[in-house]
This record gives sequence, structure tokens and C-alpha cells, in this order.
Amino acid sequence: MKAIDWLKSPLYAAEILGSAKSFRHNPILGNARLNEMGLHKRRVELAARMAERRRAALAAAVPAEDRAAFDRDGFLIKPDFLPADAFARLKDRLYNQEFEAREMRQGQTVTRMIPLDARTLPQIPEAAHVVRNDLVRSTMRYVASTGGTPVYHLQTVIAEPERGKADPQTELHSDTFHPTAKVWLFLQDVGPEDGPFLYAPGSHRLTPERLAWEYEQSLTAGRDKRAHHALGSFRVRPEDFARFDYAPPRQVTVAANTLVYADTYGFHARSVSTRPTLRMEIHGYLRRNPFLPFVGLDPLGIPGVAERQLDIYLAWCDLREKVTGRRNVWRPVGKVTPASPAHV
Ligand SMILES: [Fe+2]
Repeated sequence: MKAIDWLKSPLYAAEILGSAKSFRHNPILGNARLNEMGLHKRRVELAARMAERRRAALAAAVPAEDRAAFDRDGFLIKPDFLPADAFARLKDRLYNQEFEAREMRQGQTVTRMIPLDARTLPQIPEAAHVVRNDLVRSTMRYVASTGGTPVYHLQTVIAEPERGKADPQTELHSDTFHPTAKVWLFLQDVGPEDGPFLYAPGSHRLTPERLAWEYEQSLTAGRDKRAHHALGSFRVRPEDFARFDYAPPRQVTVAANTLVYADTYGFHARSVSTRPTLRMEIHGYLRRNPFLPFVGLDPLGIPGVAERQLDIYLAWCDLREKVTGRRNVWRPVGKVTPASPAHV
């Protein structure tokens, strides 16, 4: 460890008790000797056990058939989500209204983000059907296995297959070492050629084979050349995937106005887009400390903070860039319509 790492070691140690996942940035989490002794394996096991307990406490607020589908697959598909007239108005706004946006390029894919917060929601009232919907919130909590308040933004994914390197999100991967929720309301049809979401049904379940694989990865992840893998979003190679008793990855092709929830501990990816595409989504996520023994006490849920979580996070990343020089990947691009071409 470097001198600065010794100074920061109490912080690194405290992170073990939270959602920190980077084998590269946290020298304790990335320590091969500690992982040989079972550090990562125990975090995965304990997080899964706590998730099960919390999900039991959250189950009553979710319809039984939705729970059954999610428990089986790790994702849940709800077609025809918004009333048809609200959906038409929403789409119209996204082609014609301008909003302050940020963009990030990952290889040949550009992702645009427009936070859905107290400032933008009055301009897109239809989005509140998702953002402020009690059933969506309850389902997100069940999928994430935690209480708390999901964070939402309008997302545009622009694939430019002729440009740049491969998109790292097209490799089959798990986002982190514990259950965590994402949701998308798709605003266009997403067919097999449009880079649809890919998910291996059942791969949200921690099985003995998965735990053994997690353990093996933890021994070398800190020095793995695949950056996202080293940062704790494990990539799974096809030959490794064959070891699991999970169904093969399935393309989640959807009609416009379909809501999809997923536990992205399960193996998933963005399919490779074979043609230039631009797709828009209302996108939300929910992730909290995976070791919490309870589902309440959400400091980020207080009015005034709940819908500003993303703004606060982006302001923090901008400040960090100014102070430390570590680049914020989300670049401001000014006021643009959600459906406009990429700017970065
Ligand atoms: Fe992911």
C-alpha cells in the first residue's frame, strides 16, 4: 500500500461494511490474501442473507404475481404502463422541449442524462406517473431488497456502431456484489436489432456455483485488465457462464410504453446494436447499504433531498474534478431535446 493508503486505511476498512465494491480503489477489498481468507465471499453471502430478510419485509406491498415473476427471473416486465394519452404527450415533449443535459461516451455508445427532479418534473408531468408512483416505488424496493428512494432521470442511449471501441456495457456482467434495482420505461419499441437489454433469467440467485465463482474472481479482480471488472462489476466469460445453472441470456425486446424492472446483481448486458439507434427511457435505480438489517430510516428520502439526489451527486463529481482533477465522465452539454443527436 502507498503512504496515502495507510492514512486512508480506517476509511477503507469502514467501507467493508457498506456498498463499496472496487477491488482497484480499495486496497482492503482488493487484497488477495484477505479474499483468499474469504472477505469477498463473506460479504456476498451476508448481503444475500440480509436481502432475503429485507425482501420478506417489503413483499406485502407488491402484487403476488409480480413477485412470483421477479423471484423466478430476476426481472419483471409490465407492458402498457402509462395511459395512452399521457404516453403520447410524454413522447411529444421529448422531441420538442429542451432540458439541461449531461452526456457520457462509452466507446460507440453515448448516454444522455436529464435528472427528473423538482425542477424538471413540472415540465414533464407525465414522468411523475413513474417517479411518484407508489406501486413503482414499492416494486423497486422489493427488487433492490431495500427501503429508500429511487433516483430517476430521462435517459437517451445513442448507439453509433461505426464509431469508437466496443461499449463495455455489452459484456455480460453483474453490477455489484449484492441485489440492486434498475427500472426503465421504454419510450420506443426495442427490437432485436436495437441493442435490447439482455438478462440471464434466474442469475439474480446466489447459488453455490455462483459463490464459488465470486470467490475465484475476488482473488485476482484487483489486477484484472478489464476496468469494470476490477471496479467490482464482474464480467462473466461465456466459458464461466456455462458453470452456472442459470438460463441462457435472453433479449428483453419490448413495445414502447413497457416498464422493465431488474435486479442487476443478475447477469445482464446491453445487446450490441447493429445499426445506429437512438432510444429514450425513463430510467431509475435504487441501491443502499446491502448489510442493513432494516428497511426504514432513509436519510435521502426527506423532502427536498429525495428528488435532488442526482443533482447533489453531479455537483459532488464536478467539485471533485476541480479539486483533484479526476474527470467527471458526465459532461454538461447545455439545453438540448432528449431526442437530439450526441454532443460528446
Ligand atoms: Fe450493468
